[in-house]
Amino acid sequence: METKIYPDYETLSAAVAQIMFDTIQQKPTAVICLASGHTPLLPCQLFVKKANDEHLHISEATFLGLDEWVGVPPENEGSCHYFLYNTVFNPLGLQAGQIHLFNSMADDLSIECITMDEVIENNGGIDLMIVGIGMNGHIGFNEPEVSFTNLSHVIELDKTTIEVGQKYFPAATTLSKGITIGLQHLMNTKQVLLIANGEKKATIIQQTIESEVSNQIPATIMQTHKHGVIMLDDAASSKINKIN
Ligand code: GLP
Repeated sequence: METKIYPDYETLSAAVAQIMFDTIQQKPTAVICLASGHTPLLPCQLFVKKANDEHLHISEATFLGLDEWVGVPPENEGSCHYFLYNTVFNPLGLQAGQIHLFNSMADDLSIECITMDEVIENNGGIDLMIVGIGMNGHIGFNEPEVSFTNLSHVIELDKTTIEVGQKYFPAATTLSKGITIGLQHLMNTKQVLLIANGEKKATIIQQTIESEVSNQIPATIMQTHKHGVIMLDDAASSKINKIN
């Protein structure tokens, strides 16, 4: 694992966008897995602009959604679905066959998990995963105590996630479960970028980088990924012991 620090959110976002662009330019059939949330907003916007301005050949790439709130419909502004379609998929003009998201409204969520696992396998694995980090150290909805060997799964949300998650919704929303790509998939991914910005993430980032690897802080799994990069702005890096 490597840690990279950028002066601010804008330069961090530009660097992430460039990696997304390069990944698809070098491998037009690349499989890209994207988190939603506030952190990936500018990286995704910059990527879309660059891809469109420079006519990136994107019609063979596959895009996966990392996670979704169970029971929140796609038209809800707070859903991951809404974020990804509005920020990335629609502005890029992707075809339906290039996009695979969990349908968190499905009656049988286990089929959603199996389907996602099959999509990943049938496409030869994930080339690039871009994830954020929750205030409790989750990645996607891989909450504290999750198994590191999970593939796609449904999980009870942690209290912190339910509270913090309200920030995405226009009105108070009942959240109890999430459906997510698991950490075994993260470990199998060719390159993983964990991105964080702002001082509010400084403590969990310091713990992610400096604590022992443990499922109490799921993001510590990044320490064991050979091609894992933690990309931070200056504020999010402010509590790391930079001597080490
Ligand atoms: C959410 C999502 C994650 C996201 C994380 C951080 O709950 N499940 O996929 O990366 O929390 O979100 P943000 O970037 O808004 O801080």
